[in-house]
Amino acid sequence: MKTPKLPAICIVIALAAMAAGLRAQVLTATLTLHADEPGPAINRNIYGQFSEHLGTCIYGGIWVGEDSPIPNVRGIRSDVVAALREIRVPVLRWPGGCFADEYHWRNGIGPPAGRPKMINTNWGGVVEDNSFGTHEFMDLCEQVGCEPYITGNLGSGSVQEMMEWVEYMTSDADSPLANLRRRNGREQPWKVRYFAVGNEAWGCGGDMTPEFYADNFRRSNVFLKNYPGNLLYRVACGPNSDDYAWTDKVMAIAGKRMNGLSLHYYTLKNGWNDKGSATEFSQADWKATLAQAMRMEPIIRGHEAIMDRYDPARKVGLLVDEWGVWHDSTPGTNPGFLQQQNTMRDAVVAALTLHIFQEHAGRVVMGNIAQMVNVLQAMILTDGPRMVLTPTYHVFDMLKVHQGAARLAVDLVTPRYVDEPAPVPLVSASASRAGGRIHLSLVNTDPDRPVRVVCAVTGARLGTVGGTVLTAPTMQAHNTFDDPGAVRPSPFTDFSAAGDVLTATLPPKSVAVLEITPRG
Ligand code: AHR
Repeated sequence: MKTPKLPAICIVIALAAMAAGLRAQVLTATLTLHADEPGPAINRNIYGQFSEHLGTCIYGGIWVGEDSPIPNVRGIRSDVVAALREIRVPVLRWPGGCFADEYHWRNGIGPPAGRPKMINTNWGGVVEDNSFGTHEFMDLCEQVGCEPYITGNLGSGSVQEMMEWVEYMTSDADSPLANLRRRNGREQPWKVRYFAVGNEAWGCGGDMTPEFYADNFRRSNVFLKNYPGNLLYRVACGPNSDDYAWTDKVMAIAGKRMNGLSLHYYTLKNGWNDKGSATEFSQADWKATLAQAMRMEPIIRGHEAIMDRYDPARKVGLLVDEWGVWHDSTPGTNPGFLQQQNTMRDAVVAALTLHIFQEHAGRVVMGNIAQMVNVLQAMILTDGPRMVLTPTYHVFDMLKVHQGAARLAVDLVTPRYVDEPAPVPLVSASASRAGGRIHLSLVNTDPDRPVRVVCAVTGARLGTVGGTVLTAPTMQAHNTFDDPGAVRPSPFTDFSAAGDVLTATLPPKSVAVLEITPRG
């Protein structure tokens, strides 16, 4: 049969109509939120932070000294503290990172003028004057209202040095070290729960084998004492990303001695040699970054399965105490300072990752995004007296409603945004219930298309619903000192409720949180 020939104009019109039709077709995800099926509590600490002596995270970003014209309390900048209080930072890891295994705590106590200097060999080779030490860090935690998480120096230090640091911080005895603390201005001991024996022992923390590390953990553990009124939560150095053999060995040798095992996983767009620009990227880069971020889920699952074999009662927590997107450093900055901008892409990764942690709330007890100020995927960027909040900060602010809440079961059926190199769902969802309120956080990973989410709520009657959304016109949108509000949350109203079904349309590349106050 002969196909009739259509005039070219008809073909153009038909194609345009088809394209318009496709554009008009809004993709849909469906979910059932079981409001009466509370799961484990979402540990607040998965919203934790990490601050290392690296670049301008501590010096400039947090610590400006008492004589600075930048408003401060005892040398700690007030604008940064106020912003951190707002997002309810639960726990803060310090002093590193790689820095921790070269840090000698005694150099950071006593009158500042007398504190020895050192070279920060890991990060830019700059001189560290130790003006920010134990007392200043504890003061920061008290000002922010968070718990300290200390990483001891196993790599280049000694068991004795770690043991004495614990005594200095937490003992109320009439002992030489507790009295030294008193002479340095702190009468009462501090409460220090989280203490890690070294950092990345498989790399910058000493290039150890898992067997050697696990034996050293056991040895150190004996000398890290619980002084009256203080109970340590001992964290062993865990694997680098998907190094399951490390987890297996360390759990086999020391699993019964530890309270927690750490895991480090960074999102690298295409590996260490092709991290790419933080702000100039294509949609292919967006996809690759999200796919790498989603690898966090199978990686956690893999380590959980091993931990379950050695610790079926799930007494040992998994602490993802370094995570985040690692881009190329901002051009023109010291590459050793790991300074990078933060866009809508980073915000989406943050929300996806927090959802993964919440999904694994039975084992994941802490997360510490790297890092809090001016380094890697930061909450806050500073430049002299100026400060700007990043899109990632806003995600932590919006999702803080989940902190400590009971996770609710969610059955989600969603199209995929990307299949390769790792599957990325078009929609990610997580829900929790606390104080009579239900919170449902949602992510649309597609940078171009909106998505409709049809959510049936069981076990509760829909009452009032409100929402907040974070989105931006472009994937690369970010906040600058001159335009600090380019990416910021706004009220979310694109939803309707009929009976117990809630239908929301998420804008492209967005993170939204719905708050439901059930009726009756
Ligand atoms: O966060 C930056 C560095 O990344 C940390 O110092 C180290 O632990 C990791 O390799």
